Amino acid sequence: MKHFLKETDFNRDEVAQVFALARRYKRERGQHEKPLAGQTWAMIFAKSSTRTRVSFEVGIHELGGNPLFLNTNDIQIGRGETISDTAKVLSRFVHGLIVRTFAQTDIEELAAHGGLPVVNALTDFLHPCQIYTDAFTAAERWAGPQGDLLASLKGRKVAFLGDTCFNMANSWILGANLFGMNVSLGGPAGYEPTKEIRELAAKTGGTFHYTADPYEAVAGADIVYTDVWASMGQEGEAAERQRRMMPFQVTKQLFAAAKLDALFMHCLPAHAGEEVTQEVLDDPRCVIFDEAENRLHVQKAILAMLARNRA
Ligand code: CP
Ligand code: NVA
Repeated sequence: MKHFLKETDFNRDEVAQVFALARRYKRERGQHEKPLAGQTWAMIFAKSSTRTRVSFEVGIHELGGNPLFLNTNDIQIGRGETISDTAKVLSRFVHGLIVRTFAQTDIEELAAHGGLPVVNALTDFLHPCQIYTDAFTAAERWAGPQGDLLASLKGRKVAFLGDTCFNMANSWILGANLFGMNVSLGGPAGYEPTKEIRELAAKTGGTFHYTADPYEAVAGADIVYTDVWASMGQEGEAAERQRRMMPFQVTKQLFAAAKLDALFMHCLPAHAGEEVTQEVLDDPRCVIFDEAENRLHVQKAILAMLARNRA
């Protein structure tokens, strides 16, 4: 059974297939085949979501399937039913699970017990659907309509600023090498990449550069990327994080240290005046809404690959 729990669950050949399929689904929207016809995919969400929820619901529908959204407060998981029992029960009804939760180990447990393909729709540890989409969004620009998407990423540098020890930073650490890119992380001391991600990166061939100097991180970058400073579940630490991460705010000056034609990216939601200034969000090199749109096309490709593997 194939799952998509972390970036490296697809090899480079499969990444190339995901990108090619996403490009075709985008071009043929409304006219392509429906590989999820007759299937229901459950979406178990323990955290808020705009982009992920809507892009998966619309995407499953466009692939011919039926999305079933389940907030964990509304199902028995919220009252203590175990994840493994939940997975076993759901496997009698549905064809796949899309899960947004806190612990990465929870989705690994679901994958181990459910007998169904499981997709990581964000955990505290990783957000692989987002990072695949971001790489695709850059590749679309760099490769053009006919060019080799994956090859266009080769040797490109992404600079990730701010919270360098949570899901988005971790996903770049695992994803960059897979896409043939280099990642330089700039964040304050005390928020360095964790032992857990360092160990996983070492196992999966991921390499990265970390610095506490934002200008060193951004120097010569092709992509400047940031994320919120206080993620879902960290609201109580917001003031302290804001104080510590302010030197890593993406300003016009910091962005100017990247290549002249560098892209600005953010997974969203953004907090203008915190991790990024409004001026950078208004810059023509800011591609945040293309990233948001491409969630739909890339996730449809991921689902089609998993469904194909399951058949
Ligand atoms: N970027 C992202 O995953 O957004 P949502 O939290 O709105 O799904
Ligand atoms: N790091 C953020 C990403 C949101 C898409 C969070 O986990 O809240």
